[in-house]
Amino acid sequence: MFKKPQLFILLIVATCSNYLVQAQQMVTIPIETAKNSLVLQTDKDNRLGIVHFGKKLIKTADNAIIAQEFRYNDSNAGIYNSPYTPSGTWSLVEPAIQITHADGNNSLELKYVSHQTVKIDDNVTQTNILLKDPAYPVEVTLCYKVYAKENVIEQWSLIKHQEKKNILMQKYASANMYFSADNYVLHHYHGGWGEEMKPEETLLTAGIKTLDSKLGTRANLFQPPTFMLSFDRQATEDEGKVMLGTLAWSGNFKIDFEMDSYHNLRVLAGINPHASEYSLAPNQEFKTPSFISTFSENGKGEASRNMHNWARKYRILDGEGSRLTLLNNWEATYFDFDEQKLTGLFKDGKKLGVDLFLLDDGWFANKYPRNGDVAGLGDWQENRKKLPNGIGYLMKEATKAGIKFGIWVEPEMVNPKSELYEQHKDWVIREPERPEHYFRNQLPLDLSNPEVQDFVFGVLDNLFTKNPDLAFIKWDCNAVTYNAHSMYLLKQGLPQTHLYVEYVKGLYKVLERIRAKFPKVPMMLCSGGGGRVDYEALKYFTEFWLSDNTDPLERVFIQWENSYFYPAIAHCNHITDWSKVGLKYRTDVAMMGKMGYDIVVSQLTEKELKFSQKALENYKRINPVIWKGDLYRLQNPWDKPFASLVFSNENQDHAVMFNYLTTNRFDTGYNPTPIKLKGLSPNKKYSVKEINLFPGTTSSLKSDLVYSGDYLMNIGINPELSGRRSSVILELNEVK
Ligand code: GLA
Repeated sequence: MFKKPQLFILLIVATCSNYLVQAQQMVTIPIETAKNSLVLQTDKDNRLGIVHFGKKLIKTADNAIIAQEFRYNDSNAGIYNSPYTPSGTWSLVEPAIQITHADGNNSLELKYVSHQTVKIDDNVTQTNILLKDPAYPVEVTLCYKVYAKENVIEQWSLIKHQEKKNILMQKYASANMYFSADNYVLHHYHGGWGEEMKPEETLLTAGIKTLDSKLGTRANLFQPPTFMLSFDRQATEDEGKVMLGTLAWSGNFKIDFEMDSYHNLRVLAGINPHASEYSLAPNQEFKTPSFISTFSENGKGEASRNMHNWARKYRILDGEGSRLTLLNNWEATYFDFDEQKLTGLFKDGKKLGVDLFLLDDGWFANKYPRNGDVAGLGDWQENRKKLPNGIGYLMKEATKAGIKFGIWVEPEMVNPKSELYEQHKDWVIREPERPEHYFRNQLPLDLSNPEVQDFVFGVLDNLFTKNPDLAFIKWDCNAVTYNAHSMYLLKQGLPQTHLYVEYVKGLYKVLERIRAKFPKVPMMLCSGGGGRVDYEALKYFTEFWLSDNTDPLERVFIQWENSYFYPAIAHCNHITDWSKVGLKYRTDVAMMGKMGYDIVVSQLTEKELKFSQKALENYKRINPVIWKGDLYRLQNPWDKPFASLVFSNENQDHAVMFNYLTTNRFDTGYNPTPIKLKGLSPNKKYSVKEINLFPGTTSSLKSDLVYSGDYLMNIGINPELSGRRSSVILELNEVK
C-alpha cells in the first residue's frame, strides 16, 4: 500500500487484458491525448509497429484487428512501421538505432517485452515500452509522456545493455514515427544571423529530406530542430491535419523525413550521429533528448495553441508567471560606457517606465579589457576602469533610481586574448595540433569537463552571491564549435566523438545547478541573435532572444514564424534604433511578446517619450492577454502585405488585435476589406478601441461602437491600415 497516494504514481500495468486481441502474443498499446492517439501493436514475431497516428479512435481495442491489416509482410524488405527501427537485421531503411556490440557484431533486433502506463496526475501519463534484442543483452525503452488536455506527446528512448564490454552506438534517435497519408507537406526553417526562421514549404517526395545541424554550441544558427508537417494537403491556420514537432536539445540534431516505396512517411529525430559515435558502458543508461509533438485536425492555429498551452504550463521556466520590461544598453552604448553613463541610463529607464536596466557586454576583464569583441571573454571580474566601484555600486545606484538591475554574461566562451585562455588552454575546445579557427574572435569552453562546469557555474554563482538582488541574466552564446576536440576527454581516455553530446549534457548540469540555487531569477537565452532555442533549454530560461534583427518590418515575419512553436511570453522583443521605421511601429511590433527597449532615451523627442511612457502603461494592462491568452493568426504577411493577429484571454472578455502593414507601397489605405476576428465569444458584446496612438494623431476608427462577437468574427473589422497608419493595435473589452 502507498502511504501517500498523491505522491506516488498510480501504476496501471497494461500488458493487458483490455488490449489483448486475438492471439496471446499480440499487444496493442494506445498512447492517447484528449483528441489524438498513437497506437502501437505487436505482430506475430513480437515486433512492435505503429498502426495508427491521428484522430483518437473510438475504441482502440475494437480497431486493433483491422489495424493489423496495415502491416507489411517480409517480402517488403522489412517492416516499415517500427517505432524504433534497428539496424543490421531485417530492416533496410534508415535506422533509429545502430550499434556495434562488444564482440564486434553490428546487428540489432528489438522485440516487444512489456509495457506499463503510469498515471502522473489527472492530465499526464507516461507509457514505457521495453524492447529487447533476443540474441544480445541490449534493451531499449520507448517512453511516451502524454499531456492529454494539451494534446502533446513527449517521447524519448532509454538505451542500456549488459554486455561484457562497452557497445558503440552509431545512431540513437529520440523518435521514430510513421505516417500514412496522400501527401506530406513539410514547413521548415533556415536562415542565418539577422534572418532567423525563414520558412520553406515543400511537398515531400521519395527519398530522404534531412534537417540537421553540425554547428555545436550555436546549433540553430542556420536551422532550428522545429517543423510543421501537414498530411494529405497543406494545412491552413484553421483547416487540415498537421503535426508540430521539435527536438528538445541544445546541440547538433538530425531529423530525417523518409518516404518509402508505399508513399508512407518515416520521421526520425534525434541527436545528430555526425562525429558522435557513443561508447556505452555495461548498465549505463543513455537517455536521448525528448522529441515533442502535437497534432491537430484543425490546422496550424490549434496545433500551435496546443504547444503554447503545454509550454507555458509544463516547460518554460515560470511559463505562467510574469515578466519584466527592460532597458538594455547594448545598441545605445555598445562597449563604450562608464559608471556615470550607466547611472544616467538608470534614470532614463525609470523615466521611461520600465522595470529593469540590463547591462550588456563590456563590463568585465582587466588585463585584456572587454572594449570590443576581440578580448576579455572568460575574465569575469568587473573592469576597474569602467566600473571602479563594481557591480554592487551599480546595483545600489539602480535601486536609488527605482529600477531593478540585470546583467549580460557569455560564460561558455573565451577569447584567446584573455587570462582564462592563458591559464587554462586545456579548458578550451581546440585542436592542439592545428591553427585555431574563430567565430567572433572566440572559442567555446569544454563543458564536457567537470572543472569547466564548475567554472561556468561559478561565474553565475559569484554574481548572485555578491549581488543577491540581481534581477535578470542575459545568457549569450556567440560562437559555433570548430575543431571539436576535448583535452578532457583525451585525458580520461574517452572518445572524442562524445564531445558534442557531453558538451550539451555539461551545459544542462550547469543550468540544473544554477536553478537549484537560484530557482526564480529570470534568464534570457540568447545566441548571437536566435542561434539557440529549444524546449530543453527553456526548462531553465524564462525567455529567449529571437534575433539581433530588430527592424520591425522584418521582425513581424520572424515573430510570426516563432509564434507557431513558442508562446509570446517567451519572445524577447526590443525596440531599437536599428531601422528608420517610426517608433510607433517598432513599439507595436515589440509589444507582441515580452517588450524591452534598447534605445537612447535622452534622444527621444518629447512626443516620442510621451508615446513610449503611455505604451508601457498600455502594455501593463494588456500583457496578461498577450502572455497567457490564446493566439489566433488572422492574416499571414507572406500571403498579403499585412499581418494581423489577435490574442484573446480565457474568458474571451479581453482581446488585443495587432495589425501591421508590411510594405511601403501604399500611402493611402491598403486593406479595403474587414478582417474577421477569432477567439471571441459570439454572444458577447465588445468595445473596440485603438490604443498606442502617437501624440497628436487620432484614430480613424469610431470608438463608441459596440460589436457582437458574432459580428466581429463573421463580418470583421477594418483597422484601416495605410502608409500613415502602418500599425494599428485594437483593444477589445467585453461590454456588459
Ligand atoms: C550578441 C547578442 C547581442 C549583444 C551582443 C553583445 O550579438 O545577440 O544582443 O548582447 O552579443 O556582444
